[in-house]
Parts: sequence; C-alpha cells; structure tokens
Amino acid sequence: MFGRVEQPLTEDKVREALKAVKFPGFSRDIVSFGIVKSINIAGNNVDVALHIVTRDSAIPQQIERDVRAALTGLSGVGRLNVQMTAQQPPQQGQMPMAGAGAAPGRPHIEGVKHIIAVGSGKGGVGKSTVAVNLACAMSQLKCEVGLMDADIYGPSVPKMMGATQKPTITEEKLDPVENFGLKMMSMALLLDDNAPVIWRGPMIMKAIQQFSLAVNWGALDVLVVDLPPGTGDAQLSLAQTIALDGGVIVTTPQDVALEVARRGIAMFEKVNVKILGIVENMSFYVCPHCGQHDDIFGHGGGKQEAERLEVPFLGEIPLFSEIRICGDKGLPIVVASPQSEPAKAFHRCAEAVLGLLRSA
Ligand SMILES: Nc1ncnc2c1ncn2[C@@H]1O[C@H](COP(=O)(O)OP(=O)(O)OP(=O)(O)O)[C@@H](O)[C@H]1O
Ligand SMILES: [Mg+2]
Repeated sequence: MFGRVEQPLTEDKVREALKAVKFPGFSRDIVSFGIVKSINIAGNNVDVALHIVTRDSAIPQQIERDVRAALTGLSGVGRLNVQMTAQQPPQQGQMPMAGAGAAPGRPHIEGVKHIIAVGSGKGGVGKSTVAVNLACAMSQLKCEVGLMDADIYGPSVPKMMGATQKPTITEEKLDPVENFGLKMMSMALLLDDNAPVIWRGPMIMKAIQQFSLAVNWGALDVLVVDLPPGTGDAQLSLAQTIALDGGVIVTTPQDVALEVARRGIAMFEKVNVKILGIVENMSFYVCPHCGQHDDIFGHGGGKQEAERLEVPFLGEIPLFSEIRICGDKGLPIVVASPQSEPAKAFHRCAEAVLGLLRSA
C-alpha cells in the first residue's frame, strides 16, 4: 500500500559503501588506509575527496573508477563528484629537513635523512636479527640511528636490544628508548608483558603512523624499520605514512626461502619502495669451536637471486649460534663481539647499505 520510504543519504552510508573498495592488489579497503579525506552530502549530491601517495599513476585511476562504481550503485545518490589527488612519495635526497616547511600532507619524518625497511615474504628468516645488527653496525660507523619495530603482532626488537624502559612523552610525542647509542620504538615497550595484542585493520595504520610520526626521533641519519612477516598491510601503511628510501630483503639460501624473497620483493615493488638489496642470512654454518664453515642450507642462492633480479647483493651472514644467544641476551653480536666473523659480516652489509643511500 505504501511506497518504500527512502532513508536519507548519510555520510556513514557513503563511508560504508566506500569500504567495499579495495586498494588495488591488497585485501584492505581504502577507508581503513585513510585514503578517503572527506565526504560531503548536500541533498542527494555527494562530494568525496581522496588523497593517495604513490608513484604508480594507474592506482589513483583504478581507485577513482572503483569509487564511482561503488557510489553510483548506492541508492539515493544524485550528482557524484569524486576529487582525487595523488602525490609522489619524496625521493631520497628530497627529504625535507627539520623545519624546512614541507608541503602539507607530505609524508616525512622531520630530521630523519633516510628510512629503510627490513623485510621478507616470510617469518623466521632473521629479519629482526638483521635489522637490529645492521642498525648497531651503522651506529658504530658513526651514524645517528633509530630502530622502529613495525612488527606490532610479534615485536622482538626491545628483547634483542635489551630494552625494558617505558617510553616517556614530551609535547604529546613518544620519546624513543635508547640503548647502545640507538633510539628505538616498539609496541613491546608500550604494552604490559604477555598482554595479548589483537589488532583490527584500521588500528594497524594508526599504530604505524604513531610509531613513525608521533615519536621524537630527533636528528637521524638512518631510521631502520623492522617489518613484520605478513600480507603487506603494514608495508602499505608504512608507504602511505612515510617516505621509505628503500627495502632490504632478508632471505635464507634454500630455494623455498628464495621464492619467499621474491614475494617480499614484489610486495615492496607494489608500494613503490625501491629494493636496496638482498641479505642472505644463515648463509653458511660456522662452528663456534673450530671456526670451520659448512653450507648447511646450500650457499649462494641469495647472490644468484640478486643477480637474476638485478638488485644489489648486500652480503651473507653466517648461521652462528652466538648470534641467537646474543639476541636472546639482549646484547646484539655486533655490540657484544665486534671483532667476531658475524659482526664483521653485519658491518659489511651496513657499509653496503650506507653506500647505496649516500650515492642514490
Ligand atoms: N645468522 C643467524 N645465526 C643463528 N641464529 C639466527 C641467525 N639469524 C637469526 N637467528 C635466530 O633465528 C630466530 C629467528 O630470527 P628473527 O626473530 O630475527 O627472525 P624474523 O624473520 O624477524 O622472525 P619473525 O618473522 O617472527 O619476525 C631467532 O632466534 C634468532 O636469534
Ligand atoms: Mg621479526
């Protein structure tokens, strides 16, 4: 008898509809990644403003098409105006320095010259061990270094760095905790021991943003970011939040791990992060007693893979029980025994990375 009463169009309804639009190539939606900047409704007319940081011009076009499709199908929408702005992440060397008055919305961390992320397509290959020891080696090479643990599910940097202090807050920003001359920030420093961490999508973005932008990093030559293993949400959040100068891929020599390294590389490429190079971890076994080498997992796969993919090979780190023991003790091997063979191997990698950052 009665016609259907149309519910008025609301911002919430539009936002809900936009949650159906995925970031191209990822399982997460554009709302949770903060790409939707504003929604304005006047009667039946809808204005949506989107902003994205990417080097790939196809991505904003794709998102705009998907947004139009999602909202055209929403009942009650009359005139639709989608305003898409896209911005290139700043290249290394163009990073605005502290107080330089950067363009608004430009992702940078004031005073931080270079930001690198250490990642892999897989867990347990030694990303955190490499990130921590690379950072310590760079610090010994007279760089001001920060270490950001972006693994919010399984943060391990503070344990490996022997850091237990709770961060203080100055001017509404977290003060990093310092050990061995490095500044660091990790979810593990903010949570009580054993507290379970349950993250929903949008919270990952928030946490990553806070860890990069709401920390008093001060003046740094390099900020090393330890990435979690996973689907790419953290990587995408990072790439949207800050300008990464490059990614370091950690792999082990076996074929199966190399396949995973390829996936890690693809992930960095998808978010337009330059690959600085590949580190082969657990490359060969060094007997702690006699110093003899043994290629347990095969050897040289990382190097071959780097050649095949035409990315730099940054070096090989031996499988050496002291590396794990030092990590468990909270005293990285580079700090504990700087003259040991593994420490020298980390130093060579650190020099290679610094060389690439300086020459880029
Ligand atoms: N070269 C090495 N020699 C001996 N032990 C190592 C070496 N590299 C890493 N390990 C040990 O292997 C384990 C896994 O390393 P790590 O936690 O660094 O890996 P990860 O890739 O960060 O793991 P996750 O994916 O869980 O974050 C640790 O116990 C670490 O001490
Ligand atoms: Mg780790």
